[in-house]
Amino acid sequence: MGLVERDEHSEMSTQESNLNTLQTPPPIADGRGEPLIAIRDLEVYFDMGRGKKGIVKAVDGVTFDIYPGETLGLVGESGCGKTTLGRAILRLIEPTAGQVLYHGKDLAHLSAREMRKQRRHLQIIFQDPYASLNPRMTVGQIVGEPLDTFRIARGREADERVQQLLETVGLSKRFIKRYPHEFSGGQRQRIGIARALAVDPDFIVADEPISALDVSIQAQIMNLLEKLQREKNLTYLFISHDLRAIRHVSDRVAVMYLGKLVEIADAKTIYADPLMPYTKALISAVPVPDPKVEASRQRIVLEGDVPSPINPPRGCRFHTRCPYVIQACKEVVPPLVEIKPGHFAACIRISPEQPDIEKVAPGDAPGLAAAKSASSGL
Ligand SMILES: Nc1ncnc2c1ncn2[C@@H]1O[C@H](COP(=O)(O)OP(=O)(O)O)[C@@H](O)[C@H]1O
Ligand code: SF4
Ligand SMILES: [Mg+2]
Repeated sequence: MGLVERDEHSEMSTQESNLNTLQTPPPIADGRGEPLIAIRDLEVYFDMGRGKKGIVKAVDGVTFDIYPGETLGLVGESGCGKTTLGRAILRLIEPTAGQVLYHGKDLAHLSAREMRKQRRHLQIIFQDPYASLNPRMTVGQIVGEPLDTFRIARGREADERVQQLLETVGLSKRFIKRYPHEFSGGQRQRIGIARALAVDPDFIVADEPISALDVSIQAQIMNLLEKLQREKNLTYLFISHDLRAIRHVSDRVAVMYLGKLVEIADAKTIYADPLMPYTKALISAVPVPDPKVEASRQRIVLEGDVPSPINPPRGCRFHTRCPYVIQACKEVVPPLVEIKPGHFAACIRISPEQPDIEKVAPGDAPGLAAAKSASSGL
């Protein structure tokens, strides 16, 4: 088992790959200015060793932007590729193809040496803070290690910095000589956050950072992340399968299904007015705080299981479970289209002229022409 070899792009120099940026499809522009990170046609395939039949398409052609200072929530069922996408952005997993542009540099194609330099600006917080902290290191060593690695501080200066970092994340500096096993789950997550902050990053991938924590602790960690974002102007990719957590923290939300991005919009908009049938089903399962609205909430129950990413369905990957499926859905891959300003969805049965799938005549696919021209490269 291993990663699928990169395509021919992998041998390109950074300069060449930057030039290549010019030829990629237009970015998802929505009037927010320059993105901090621009992800273009990103693919991560895992080779399970049985020829073409054994290739897991964990991330399969994903394009989106992350803007400075925002929290972009990434949501989808378990196994849809969220972790792989988050790690591939940071090059903790090698992308198979595509680009990750950060300050004009394509991270996906940087040399290992250049990438190590960039890593300082791009950090990750893990789901399981216990597994991600070295049990044989003290808290002081864990938080201080990146200061040494990136030559940010040494000796007394480093000790002072570690103490400050612990205070920033709400831990007493008296804990500095203790070991991870002496802490609760919430405290361990705070240690993980302090370690990520040590290098003063711009961007943090938070991969299910609260999923392993007691419910009572989850809000504390979310509040801490929000406070740090305000104080340090951080940008987050917040990954979670929990739609309530995503609603709580996100400015925008991106929905993934079987390796593809299927909808992206402002958090408020996506919860109030989901357009693509998979998103509609996901959102319909989330309880609404208003009792009146909650009483009339209609749940859309999805039939069947998520198909395997080894042999994903042709056409729209959601077609095996979609209540609105027609024949064309099985043949054409729906591109992510700007259906309303800043609101992108991948479904051939809606279009900017007819965004409401309920109002589309039986058998009609108003987005089909756009999908066909996108797939033919027009
Ligand atoms: N190292 C790997 N080797 C093979 N398959 C993998 C590997 N990592 C993840 N996968 C597969 O890729 C798909 C996406 O996984 P993942 O990114 O962990 O999803 P999520 O975080 O949304 O639960 C799953 O089918 C998973 O089994
Ligand atoms: S393209 Fe077809 S199968 Fe896919 S979400 Fe739209 S209606 Fe459903
Ligand atoms: Mg995951």
